[in-house]
Order: sequence, then structure tokens, then C-alpha cells
Amino acid sequence: MRIGAEHYRTLWLNADQRSLDVIDQTELPHALVIRTLATTEEVAGAIEVMMVRGAPLIGATAAYGIALAMAEDPSDSNLDAAATRLSATRPTAVNLFWALHRMQRALVGEKPPERRQLAYALAEQIAMESVAQSEAMGVAGQEVISRRWQALGRARSVNILTHCNAGWLAAIDWGTALAPVYKAHEAGIAVRVFVDETRPRNQGASLTAFELGAHGVPHTLIVDNAGGHLMQQGEIDLCIVGADRVGADGAVCNKIGTYLKALAAYDNGVPFYVAMPSSSIDWNVKGEEIPIEERSAREVTHIRGLSAEHGQIELALAPEGTAARNPAFDVTPARLVSGYLTERGLAPDVESLRRHFPEG
Ligand code: MRU
Repeated sequence: MRIGAEHYRTLWLNADQRSLDVIDQTELPHALVIRTLATTEEVAGAIEVMMVRGAPLIGATAAYGIALAMAEDPSDSNLDAAATRLSATRPTAVNLFWALHRMQRALVGEKPPERRQLAYALAEQIAMESVAQSEAMGVAGQEVISRRWQALGRARSVNILTHCNAGWLAAIDWGTALAPVYKAHEAGIAVRVFVDETRPRNQGASLTAFELGAHGVPHTLIVDNAGGHLMQQGEIDLCIVGADRVGADGAVCNKIGTYLKALAAYDNGVPFYVAMPSSSIDWNVKGEEIPIEERSAREVTHIRGLSAEHGQIELALAPEGTAARNPAFDVTPARLVSGYLTERGLAPDVESLRRHFPEG
């Protein structure tokens, strides 16, 4: 998607095929910093500190992490070691494990000298497929937005609430929840995105507001607790969120606070859609079995922001020593979901989702 006049992806392989460039998302929205990752350890570190984040992007970055490992030493033991290190970075988004298994499955059957080229080609394929999947989700979601616009008599914008960042910064391009927004915007449909700030790391305020602004899509930032009120006031037409993992029962694990938005949407008759690629579906677990990442309490007791004098700084919010909990994701049951927007179109319920992806 665009930042000003430039088209960007979140990651790209350098011409030397020995390193990967990524946008450092910990610096956004205040600075656009590109970092080079040259080793598997650097890739793992970038995922851990959330320099790259968002389910599809974590998966694709990890695939490149395997490719970098194979360029250095294509032995079986190094393949295992790289996969083990990368799989320990973040526990919730299943795209990470999906990408690592796909890389391992393809590489173990090859002789070590063949692995280097194959690993790069497969990592690139995972990234390119992700772009195509995002675009297809966008087309499916644009239909939903367009229908709503027609129902409004095109009299005003379709107001869409989203949570966290499920835009192109969370994927390779287009995004998941925001792909329909970009498609609708490009088709001339009037849209406005209500952006939940998404405490504690504020991916809505810093990343979603940044990418929508950079692409010229109208949006309004709200505090996390405002969504329910705006729904009661009839100010929200649709909710669209992403997913870090969708369970076999259709439950949706996504950034903490998604569940409360889904409850409020249900109570107010606001359709609640989840946009995700098939690589985010885990047919092996139910929602309640999905591992929930617990992050540092400091993300709750402190906040980061830009100071005019000192650049990016961290400020304390709570009394020193306050105990805090920081579960990073929650699980929304399928009964609160109006439909799943996938690369194979809209699935209104989990049975239909299974029919869309019979290969499992
Ligand atoms: O902790 P993050 O920033 O990686 O969490 C991201 C989200 O929760 C997104 O909504 C999710 O990955 C789905 S989207 C692409």
C-alpha cells in the first residue's frame, strides 16, 4: 500500500539474497525506519520485540528466517535449530507455526546443497501468496461494504470499526481486516474507519491510523472503551477485525479487547466480520485451547510516545510497583461472528468455512 507516493511492502529480500529488509514497526508512526535482518537470530529477535508483528507477517518473516539459516548452513540440525528458535518467538498467531511447518516439510526431503535456493523460493512464495490472499479477502469484504453503502442510499460513509492493526502492516500488503476498506476506498465507496487505540501497545493509534492516513483513507481514532457507546448511537455500520488464530469451532482469537467489541456489536445488531487467510485457521484446536500470549506488565503500567524534546520516550502511568496483568489476546465465540472473509470468499459460519477449505 502507499506511504505518500511510494508503494511499500512490509518486507523484501535484498539483492544479495543474504538479508531481509523490514519496516521497523516499533518506530511508527513517528519515523519510517527500515532495518536489515541478516541472521535467523535477528529475525527471531525482530518478531519477539514486535519490530514485525501481525499474524500473516509473522509467518512470512519466519519463513525467511529459515531461508537465512539454510544460506548459512543447510544441514538437518541447523534446519531443526532454526525452526525451534523461530517457533519460540510468539505463541498465539498460528501463521508462525503454519509457515515453519511448510518450510520444514519442503526442505527435509531435499539434499542440503539444494536447500538454499528452495528455501528462498518457498519463503518468497509464502509472501506472494499472502498478498494474493489479502487482496481476495479485500474483494470479498468490499462486497459487504458495498451492500451496506447501497442500503444507506450512498447518503453517507459506511462507518467501520476495527481493532488493533490488521492492515497491510500486519501482512505483506493489503492486510486482512483493512483489505476490504482499501478495496472499497479504491472503488469510490465512501468509508470511514473508527480505529480502536488498542491498549496496551496501541497498534490502532500508531499503526492503523498511520497506514490509513498514509493511504488517504478517512478515519477517526477512538479510545478502546468508546466503541460500545458509538454502536448504541448508531454510528457504526460494521465491525471488521483480523484473527491470530481461528479454532475448529469458529472461535476467533485476536488482540485483547476484540471479544468486548463483538459483544457490543451483537447487542446492537451491528454485523461483526473477521477477515483472515486460511493460514490463520487451526482445525486442531477449539477456541478455549488456543495459547494466549502473556506479555510484560510494563506495557500496562507504562506507555510509549513521542516527546517534542526527547524523541520516543516511555512514561509511567501507574504507581510504582503496581501489579498488572497483560494477556495480549482474547477469544470471541463463533456465535458472535457474522461471517469470515477469506481468500475463497465470505463464509457465514464455521460449517461453511469448512466447506471453503475441505483440505483442512
Ligand atoms: O500483537 P500483534 O500486534 O501481533 O497483534 C496483531 C493482531 O492482533 C491482529 O489483529 C492480527 O494479527 C490479525 S491480522 C493481520
